[in-house]
Amino acid sequence: MIDKCVLEKAWEFVSGEFDSDRSGHDAWHLKRVAEMAREIALKEGADPVLCELAALLHDIPDDKRGISEDEGLKVLENWLSLQNIGLGDIGKILGIVSTMSFRGGNNPPMNSLEGRVVQDADRLDAMGAIGIARAFTYSGNSGQKMYDPEIPVRSSMTKEEYRKGPTTAVNHFHEKLMKLAGLMNTDYAKSIALARHKFMEEFLNQFMKEWNVEL
Ligand code: ADP
Ligand code: NI
Repeated sequence: MIDKCVLEKAWEFVSGEFDSDRSGHDAWHLKRVAEMAREIALKEGADPVLCELAALLHDIPDDKRGISEDEGLKVLENWLSLQNIGLGDIGKILGIVSTMSFRGGNNPPMNSLEGRVVQDADRLDAMGAIGIARAFTYSGNSGQKMYDPEIPVRSSMTKEEYRKGPTTAVNHFHEKLMKLAGLMNTDYAKSIALARHKFMEEFLNQFMKEWNVEL
């Protein structure tokens, strides 16, 4: 069992590292995902502390943060080695963090229950009202338009294409966000995803009505 004190240390660590992030991974994203991961873990019989910790740390190796994923993983491994955590748990956390990101859909399935829980929690934070807000924040920050009917929705893409566009905030719903409900691993996350999916559907319908000036 991992000592709960490590959770506080992890929060101190990431709230410093991620404070200035505007790419959709600020520290409060990590906090929400950690709390959601704990809730799902309790329902699904996974280790709640391991899930919460992996969730807090899951975006450290992210290619959008200016360092490579490998460098990020080293930073994470180094931090973990300085905590009071067994080698087995360190291995589990590194395994979860390195396999979980969506990356255009090119990653293999998670091979542990804890990994499936954390991945669900992260995907849920890209859905619903928060998911909508994050998509438009990301778009503004990276110079994408909110919508342009002349930019087509991409049906399949490599990791590079997923990051490099051209796309729009609205296209991102069709390229990723509206697919997430169908990708949930656990039953509890599926039920939450369903409600968030419906909310995004309503949003898109209303957006297109206003875009087309349907009165
Ligand atoms: P992950 O956490 O799986 O690595 P990303 O880093 O791809 O997810 O995305 C972080 C947030 O930014 C998510 O809320 C996602 O929906 C949003 N986002 C990512 N790419 C785009 C994009 N091209 N347009 C709009 N929003 C995006
Ligand atoms: Ni994330």
